[in-house]
Amino acid sequence: MFRAGIVGCGNIARIHAQALKNAGCAAIQAFADAKEEKAKEYCSLYGTEHTRAYHSLEEMLKEEELDTVHICTPHYLHVPMARKALEKGVHVFMEKPPAISKEEFFLLEQAKEKSGKEVGICFQNRYNDAVEKIRETLNSGKLGNVKGARAFVTWNRGAEYYTGSSWRGAWGTEGGGILINQAIHTLDLLVYLLGKPESAEGSFHNHHLKHIIEVEDTMEAYIKFPKGCACFYATGAYADDAPVLLDILCESGAVRMEGERLKIIKSGGSSQSYDFEKKSGIPGKKYWGNSHQACIQDFYDSILEGRIFRNRLESVKDTFLLAMDLYSQAKQNK
Ligand SMILES: NC(=O)c1ccc[n+]([C@@H]2O[C@H](COP(=O)([O-])OP(=O)(O)OC[C@H]3O[C@@H](n4cnc5c(N)ncnc54)[C@H](O)[C@@H]3O)[C@@H](O)[C@H]2O)c1
Repeated sequence: MFRAGIVGCGNIARIHAQALKNAGCAAIQAFADAKEEKAKEYCSLYGTEHTRAYHSLEEMLKEEELDTVHICTPHYLHVPMARKALEKGVHVFMEKPPAISKEEFFLLEQAKEKSGKEVGICFQNRYNDAVEKIRETLNSGKLGNVKGARAFVTWNRGAEYYTGSSWRGAWGTEGGGILINQAIHTLDLLVYLLGKPESAEGSFHNHHLKHIIEVEDTMEAYIKFPKGCACFYATGAYADDAPVLLDILCESGAVRMEGERLKIIKSGGSSQSYDFEKKSGIPGKKYWGNSHQACIQDFYDSILEGRIFRNRLESVKDTFLLAMDLYSQAKQNK
C-alpha cells in the first residue's frame, strides 16, 4: 500500500482524494494546506482517524514517511513543491501545468533525474474513452494519413472566477490564462494524437476581462505537425462551457470529437458514432471529464509494475514547450 500525501486542499484535491479512496492502492496519510482548517476538513472528509493535517508541504514531508505526494496547489507552486518532494525521495503526481516557464520545467527535469523517482502529470483527458478510440483509429491506418486538424475550446470564465481567487489571472501565479489553465488539455490532445509539433504561431487577446485580469482570455494558434497543420482557438469569453470540439481530417475520412461524443466518418459517407457520456458517480465538473480516476490509478499501477507511465514528465514536454512558444509568439505579436 502506498503512503500518499496531498498538498493543496481546494477544488481538484477532492477528485484526487476520492480517486485514491476508490483505487485502494494508496492510503492517504496526510493533507496539507496553507489554510490548515482546509487540511483538517479534508482529513475528516476523505481520511481515517490516522490521517493528519499540516499547514505546509515542508511540515508534512518532515513529519511523515510518504511514498507519493499529489500536488494540487496553484500553478506557481507546482515546481518548487515537486522539487522538495523529489529531494525527499518521494514520487510526485502533479496537476497541470507541469510548470509556468521553460526554465522551471528544466529544473523539474533535473530534480526528477537526480531523485530517480517518478513524476506524473494530470493530463487526464488522454484517458478519455473518445481519445483512446481516436488514437486506435488513427494508428490502425483505416483513415489513411492525417491531413490536418482543428480544435476549439469555447468556455465561460467570468470576472468572479478570477476575482474570487488569490492566484488566477496573473502572470506570476497562474503563468497565463485560458491556454495554460483550461485549453492546455486540448493542446495536449493535439500533440498526443498528432506528434511533436514542428513550429507554431499564436496570438492572444483579452476581450471580455480587460482591467480584471492581466493574462489572456483568448488564444489562437496555427501549429505545424509533421503530417498537417492544426488550427487552434481557445476562449473563456463564450457564454457557456461548450463541449470541446476536435476534428482530425485524414486522407480517407475524418474523426470529430465533441465533448465525450465521437463520430468516425469514412470517405464513402459511412460513419460510426459513439457517446461516452460522463459516467454517473464520478465527482467533479463535467468539463473535467471522466478520467482523473483512470489516470491516477495508472500512475500507481505503472510504479508497481515497473512500466513507463503514459503521462510521465517527458511525455508532456512537447505540449508544455509548445504552450510556452505560443506565449512568446503571442507576446511578440502584441
Ligand atoms: N486536471 C484538471 O482537470 C483540473 C481541474 C481543476 C484544477 N486543476 C489544477 O489543480 C490545481 C489547483 O486548482 P484548484 O482549482 O483546486 O485551486 P484552488 O484555489 O481551489 O485550491 C488550491 C489550494 O491550494 C492551497 N494553497 C495555496 N498555497 C499553498 C501553499 N503554499 N501550501 C499549501 N497549500 C497552499 C490553497 O489554500 C487552496 O486550498 C491547479 O494547478 C489547477 O490548474 C486541474
